[in-house]
Amino acid sequence: MNRWSQVVLLFCLCLFAGKEATGNPLQPKADVELGKKIFETHCKVCHGVNGDGATFAANALNPPPRNFTTEKSRQELSPERMLTSVSGGREGTAMMPWAPVLSKLEIHSAVLYIRKMLMNLPE
Ligand code: HEC
Repeated sequence: MNRWSQVVLLFCLCLFAGKEATGNPLQPKADVELGKKIFETHCKVCHGVNGDGATFAANALNPPPRNFTTEKSRQELSPERMLTSVSGGREGTAMMPWAPVLSKLEIHSAVLYIRKMLMNLPE
């Protein structure tokens, strides 16, 4: 292993350790108010203002948009999974990748908003 790969490896380890230490993959700057704005602009049309997926759009979508308010969603949707799905989309579904449209901070904020305000999970 040359010196550069050692430096890179060390850097990655530090990042990983930092993430483990907080136990929260969401950016510290993620903001519920910004998340609400993003959700209501871009996500509400399919997921519904309360996140229950009971929208007009849902009639035409298979699979339907995720209902965030169920116990199943609370169990299944880790913050990591949500960030991955929102950034990269869900292949073969209407859930498109948002990374080309929204900044990382906007995506993290939207996920924070969904978790805190619609799923009633602690931060
Ligand atoms: C055009 C409709 C549509 C819009 C707009 C939309 N979604 Fe979705 N979303 C879906 C559908 C459909 C699914 C279900 C995908 C599946 O079953 O795999 C989904 C699933 C999800 C999931 C769960 C993914 C998983 O891993 O199971 C999250 C989180 C999510 N959406 C967040 C968002 C956010 C945040 C926005 C706005 C930035 C958004 N969605 C906008 C249709 C939409």
